[in-house]
Amino acid sequence: MKRIFLIGFMGSGKTTLGKMLAEKLTYTFIDLDHYIEKRNAKKIAAIFAESGEDAFREMEHKMLIEVCSFENVVISTGGGTPCYFDNIEIMNNSGLCIYLKISNEVLLKRLQKAKEFRPLIKDKSDTDLACFIYETLSKREKYYTQASIIINNDEENPDEICNKLLSLIHTPANI
Ligand code: S3P
Repeated sequence: MKRIFLIGFMGSGKTTLGKMLAEKLTYTFIDLDHYIEKRNAKKIAAIFAESGEDAFREMEHKMLIEVCSFENVVISTGGGTPCYFDNIEIMNNSGLCIYLKISNEVLLKRLQKAKEFRPLIKDKSDTDLACFIYETLSKREKYYTQASIIINNDEENPDEICNKLLSLIHTPANI
């Protein structure tokens, strides 16, 4: 398996687990948001503010195609990545997709503390954020659940989740 994609809502732990998995597998770690920022020499927040979400989604799609040419990589995607264009098919066709599933309650707690650099939620009150999570996750779940592996990441212990994932990745159906 040359490419592993971590997908899931903002705050689901894609970057933390992606880095851990990459280290264990001796793969290169790529954070798609950082890759977009580097390639376009602009922060995600600035892309949203100056060009709008549609332009960001186009960029994200192009950059996803680019990273799909890399080998032996663990790629943590943005929360919206699988839900636009044919991005989920692209990922399923070029590697193994893992969906980090989190309950709305845990997402709310995590995102309340991590809104600042996320343009879609940075100005939301707690009540609005809770509604946004509920509504957006309901729309996105049908894309996320197309992943080959779905794992619950509500627990606080990333080491345990990482080990579980490693054994799932190495089952014959996924190699
Ligand atoms: C987004 C999630 C962000 C980033 C952008 C849009 C989304 O990535 O791509 O702000 O639509 O859910 P993270 O999931 O890494 O926060």
